[in-house]
Amino acid sequence: MLKIVSLCKRRGFIYPGSQIYGGLANTFDFGPLGVELKKNILASWWKTFVQDRADIYGLDGGILMNSTVWKASGHTEKFIDDLRECEKCHKRFKEEHVIKKSSGGEAYCPDCGEKLSGLRRFNPMFKTFVGPVENSSSVTYLRPETAQAIFINFKNIIDTFHPRIPFGIAQVGKAFRNEITLGNFIFRKLEFEQMEIEYFVREKNWKKYFEEWKKKMEKWTINLGIKKSNLHWREHDKKELAHYSEKTEDLEYNFPFGGFKELYGLAYRTDFDLKTHTKESGKDLRYIDPQTQEKFFPHIIEPSFGLERTILAILSDAYYEDKKNKRIVLRFKPSMAPIKVAIFPLLANKPKLIKKAKEVRSLLRDNFVVAWDERGNIGKRYYAQDEAGTPYCVTIDFDSLEKDDVTVRDRDTMKQERVKINELINYLNKKL
Ligand code: GAP
Repeated sequence: MLKIVSLCKRRGFIYPGSQIYGGLANTFDFGPLGVELKKNILASWWKTFVQDRADIYGLDGGILMNSTVWKASGHTEKFIDDLRECEKCHKRFKEEHVIKKSSGGEAYCPDCGEKLSGLRRFNPMFKTFVGPVENSSSVTYLRPETAQAIFINFKNIIDTFHPRIPFGIAQVGKAFRNEITLGNFIFRKLEFEQMEIEYFVREKNWKKYFEEWKKKMEKWTINLGIKKSNLHWREHDKKELAHYSEKTEDLEYNFPFGGFKELYGLAYRTDFDLKTHTKESGKDLRYIDPQTQEKFFPHIIEPSFGLERTILAILSDAYYEDKKNKRIVLRFKPSMAPIKVAIFPLLANKPKLIKKAKEVRSLLRDNFVVAWDERGNIGKRYYAQDEAGTPYCVTIDFDSLEKDDVTVRDRDTMKQERVKINELINYLNKKL
């Protein structure tokens, strides 16, 4: 894990948050390569679950909402972390993380072994105020899940698009939780991105759609390049269930710290949310069957994906120490690689080479995300691109000036081939 963290910083994937001021726990910033990886994941998710489906509608709701949303959803009252603090080292832990160590209400610090304090209840929503006056009527919260924006827009989507049940509404965006336990790198952050779908079904069909969504979630995950052997499903026991859920299963990933842990969640939220919002808002959020005019609250299957955990799983799966060739390689699936092609003029101080390499760059740039590197020897440049997970490097040398061709080097096999410049786009398209 430490090796991955260090590579992420060294190559510009992920930096610790507020670093020049000593940092801020559980915050991180994405560097140039991290942003590209993130965009590749989001694009794949949106295409698979929204654009390629006729039954799912996209939404981009607000981070700030009327605080009654959180009262209705049960988050103000029931979204609670039970925490304990070590009486000696003062580290804080979520009860669910030390529960196995507790007996008869007594628990001991997983770090130093001392006694932990009694339970304290804590709401992890970030509180803020709307307007210039900070009082109870101006309070609201940064959303702790994107889902609620979907429920409060349920009627808007019905009125505009008249979808036939079953159908879904999908949303991608930031969520915020005042996490008290220190996360493992980006596994647990204060602000993170969720990719969520609320899928509306008839009550009698919920089990069927729950099973269907399990398959769909797993298929998409494997398609990112994550090994099936590093994934498994685990069902929540009754004590673990969120207040809105009747059944939840987590798709767990075998992370390089501590083994299998939650990657994504799939919850059966029943008709809890639409009912509570109907009650609280006074607006009828029932669905009307266009044929039978039957009015009812749809039940909800919720596949919920975390972007940061996806990034961490992709990085962990791709990380490879090639001892034979003394290099570290991120063996990303090409579709996930932040940079697809790196372009190297053999020497930085030869204007003719630079000119030719720039021509190749503008040719490729229209088709692929490219990088340019003219520093140091070619071996070092390959090393850097292997660590960035770039599938192909293209070198422009003196022969290129005569023969209009380049050397293409493959990240995984390290094999090199001469390719004519006018065939380069086709060649790379096929490979990528
Ligand atoms: N709407 C359902 C919901 O929010 P959740 O299991 O609390 O369910 C869904 O969160 C997903 O969001 C998790 O499976 C995880 O991938 C991600 N997630 C939750 N808390 C996170 C945090 N503090 N940092 C990073 N990702 C987080």
